[in-house]
Amino acid sequence: MCGIVGYVGERRAAPVVLDGLRRLEYRGYDSAGVAVIAEGELRSVRRVGFVAALEAAVPANLPGHTGIGHTRWATHGGVTEANAHPHLDSTNRIAVCHNGIIENHSVLRARLEEEGVVFRSETDTEVLAHLISKFYTGDPEAAVRQTLGHLQGTWGIAVIFADHPGLIVAARNGSPLVVGKGEGETFIASDPHALAAYTRQVVYLEDRDIVTIRATGWTVSRLDGAGVSRGVELLGEEWTSEGRGDFSHHMLKEIHEQPESLARCLLGRVVPDEGGARLGGLDLSPRDIAAIRHVRVLGCGTSFHAGLVGAAAMEGLARIPATAEIASEFRYRNPVVAPDDIFFAISQSGETADTLGAVREVQIKGGSVLGVVNVVGSSIARSCGRGVYVHSGPEIAVASTKAFTSQVAAMLVASLSFARTRVLGPHEGKAFGEELLSVPSRVAEWIGSEAPGLMDAVELCTQGKFVFFLGRGVSHAVALEGALKLKEVAYIPCMAYPAAEMKHGPIALLDKRTPVVVVVPDDVMRDKILSSVQEVRARGARVIVVHTEGDEAAKRLADVSIAVPRSSTLISPLFTVLPLQLLAFRAGLALGRDIDRPRNLAKSVTVE
Ligand code: F6R
Repeated sequence: MCGIVGYVGERRAAPVVLDGLRRLEYRGYDSAGVAVIAEGELRSVRRVGFVAALEAAVPANLPGHTGIGHTRWATHGGVTEANAHPHLDSTNRIAVCHNGIIENHSVLRARLEEEGVVFRSETDTEVLAHLISKFYTGDPEAAVRQTLGHLQGTWGIAVIFADHPGLIVAARNGSPLVVGKGEGETFIASDPHALAAYTRQVVYLEDRDIVTIRATGWTVSRLDGAGVSRGVELLGEEWTSEGRGDFSHHMLKEIHEQPESLARCLLGRVVPDEGGARLGGLDLSPRDIAAIRHVRVLGCGTSFHAGLVGAAAMEGLARIPATAEIASEFRYRNPVVAPDDIFFAISQSGETADTLGAVREVQIKGGSVLGVVNVVGSSIARSCGRGVYVHSGPEIAVASTKAFTSQVAAMLVASLSFARTRVLGPHEGKAFGEELLSVPSRVAEWIGSEAPGLMDAVELCTQGKFVFFLGRGVSHAVALEGALKLKEVAYIPCMAYPAAEMKHGPIALLDKRTPVVVVVPDDVMRDKILSSVQEVRARGARVIVVHTEGDEAAKRLADVSIAVPRSSTLISPLFTVLPLQLLAFRAGLALGRDIDRPRNLAKSVTVE
């Protein structure tokens, strides 16, 4: 969703800010803008549409070494240039970019209007510009602090003052901000990815922090004025990778990156010699693990699907009762949280408002929640305080692929660790650990030989009325994920069902024009799923079967068959999801969709 970038230093600010905004495009937005301090004045340009349109409108060689920029995903007010950020005060001497929502903006707006302020947009953000202007008597930080004292809601803001070239004031409350430390230059951004090309040294701000940034450094204080120091952290090397390389799309690149992202997730964590796993970030002793009565996994969308696999592994391998739940539902149903429950909150971005809300609900009720997060230093990672980073590296395509497999892998490692403490002997633990460690190279092999059958599956799916996805157990989670991908990327209506549930209703929808994708690894449920395939075929539907290589019976039942490597059941999603990711990608391509930026979607869903 919305993104902020700011720069102060020796370079011209506009190109740096525009470059940062381009790196944030993946988050999803509908308009963009920049403001720089040039020759004692604020120069601001805003445009509806992509950053490329903004770039074309910003004068070449625009001077000024201090600037801020924003990508907006409309919440208050339509997608118009007037509503795009930065917003300026009435004197045009103060510019503000804002992420988040000011809940009491209408009261503040009415008061300001009574005082004679004329608003130029419908946004909640514009009140910030006017309030800061009202309180400004020469001290930028004091004016911002006083303004924030009147706000209810969430903010990540960056403010520049024409009177103070060489200075940016920024503040965070519920919307992430990170300071980047360069040589004689300093950056601010809502997402470290925007800064990775310039610096790996970052400072994560906390809620209610205010930071005043200059080229030579910064000072952080709390909203109440107390001083505070925040340490510099080093961004992982994987975050510096950029561009699409030789790939036509980020989604395809990320699908192909899974061998490396999986290897990073497993590295040093699976210890076959001990038959177990080490996840120091969980900060749980064997005694703590032995006392867990119930594992509960929370997440949204793809992360929820990874959570379903995680819960199955916790129950199947570690023999702990486990459930997964959609975070947005959990947070509002006044859930019972027992002291011996342990929660996992799964999130790629670490900023999903619904998951963050669920984490807070668990914490309010006295529960323990561990983060399974990709973005280091994100709000969910910080809120949980402990957990596992999945180390997928930046995921730019809106549709999540490599984060899903790393989330599954991280939950499998956690399950192995819990299982080893509670029920598993060293030999069984070793076998599971070794199989896990073999996954990255086997995924690489499979991905390297684009699956025969894939393009036939694409043809069936793009020509069908809608597509059914079926599976059982962990393969039902994979079916849900395959259906979500095809909806998002190709806009094809899809449904996913546990295979046996078909006959309880949805089978009525089947006819010749409804392709059915069945995920059927060779495990204890195989024969039962193959019976469901027979039922589907008997209704005239065409069947695409994702099966274990060498399973001739499954192949014979299929109109289109796609084989994946053999694995144990709990590990199978790391293989069976691969053809479904590629199916969505290829179908989206065939239908001419904007694959990396599907309509209406944002990468990081920071509003409810
Ligand atoms: C689907 C997708 C979304 C996200 C969901 C949660 O491809 O990306 O369904 O999985 O919005 O996002 P995170 O994982 O960032 O919490």
